Amino acid sequence: MQVKWVRLKNFRNYEECFVEFKEGINLISGKNGQGKTNLVEAVMLGALTKSPRTSRDDDMKMENTTHAEAEVCIERKFGEVKIKSIIDNETKKSFYINGNGVKKVSEVFGNLVAVYFSPNDLKIVSGSPSERRDFMDSDISQLSGVYYNLVQRYNKVLDQRNKLLKTVHNKMLLESQIDVWNEQLASLAGQIIKTRKSFIKKLTIPAIETMKYISKDSDNLTISYVGVKGETSEEIKNEILKALKFNLDKDMELGYTTVGPHRDDVRFELNGRDSKIFASQGQQRSIVLALKLAELEVFEKELGEKPVLVLDDVFSELDSVRQKSLYKKFEGVQVLMTGTLFKFKPSDDYLSIVIKNGVAQSKLRTKKSVEDKKEN
Ligand SMILES: Nc1ncnc2c1ncn2[C@@H]1O[C@H](COP(=O)(O)OP(=O)(O)O)[C@@H](O)[C@H]1O
Ligand SMILES: [Mg+2]
Repeated sequence: MQVKWVRLKNFRNYEECFVEFKEGINLISGKNGQGKTNLVEAVMLGALTKSPRTSRDDDMKMENTTHAEAEVCIERKFGEVKIKSIIDNETKKSFYINGNGVKKVSEVFGNLVAVYFSPNDLKIVSGSPSERRDFMDSDISQLSGVYYNLVQRYNKVLDQRNKLLKTVHNKMLLESQIDVWNEQLASLAGQIIKTRKSFIKKLTIPAIETMKYISKDSDNLTISYVGVKGETSEEIKNEILKALKFNLDKDMELGYTTVGPHRDDVRFELNGRDSKIFASQGQQRSIVLALKLAELEVFEKELGEKPVLVLDDVFSELDSVRQKSLYKKFEGVQVLMTGTLFKFKPSDDYLSIVIKNGVAQSKLRTKKSVEDKKEN
């Protein structure tokens, strides 16, 4: 699939902007603070229904305005889809697909599927478990609005259970009331954890292979989901139910629920040791790169077409081996990449988009135009 164009209105530092993209490589360049990340953020809003860099939707609205829009047009195998995201002081956040208002956010997912990679993603390896849970949740949601809904429902039930833990201090009374929440929580947890485990399983082989390639066979990666036992949602549900009962005293004392998908983690081991602690920064960066490349494959398998690849400020930071391993995967993929300076120049035709203070200027670079330039 590919992003054909983006139209912005009061989005970050863009007052009005229309940018067309081409198939293959699109190089988005410009000095710092001009709006490169803002532009790809607008694209990602259509894929994730939220910004990849902030949880505050209002931040995306241009300062001192009340209404912002970001519309993305995507070409799919089956035709064109337009996703319009609106952030408004009155109506908050809303979405339109091909001009029709969307009732549930989950309906937006799956129209634009993109693998996004920014320097911030190093946190997937080096950061707290919540970074890894967010990574799984937001990327699985891209493929499945059903999964997104499960997580929303789980969080609501979790809130209810925590409220009960905070307000009812008599254990017998609590036990008589909490079972109904335990049952719902465990049932949703079973479905969420099963989906996450199978996502991690699908990522594992391509990620391990890419890691081997990047490290010239010296780094062995293993990836595992850290949570309760069980494969089927029923098995996991029963494990969660047991754990909820077992931990009730502790949960009562703390006033919140200490087991479940909201506490789980993913463990990346490099050569048998926890990467979070033992891997160098360069190795951690390679793991994230391997994961993102693995996602390209997994998404393509699930969708039957290639997702879009969005690289914000990462490509030029990678050394030549890593650049090469990425470049190998570009074939047939639309790539939107930002950077201040591109030493790398694609050998095929590409679109150069230069951003200056919220204004975009595009120029198609064909092999011929690049050669002409060299001669002059
Ligand atoms: N809500 C907003 N309203 C207006 N300007 C904004 C808003 N959010 C960010 N900016 C501006 O956008 C610019 C940063 O854009 P960004 O895309 O991150 O830059 P870069 O080109 O370095 O990636 C800064 O000048 C910042 O002041
Ligand atoms: Mg940037």
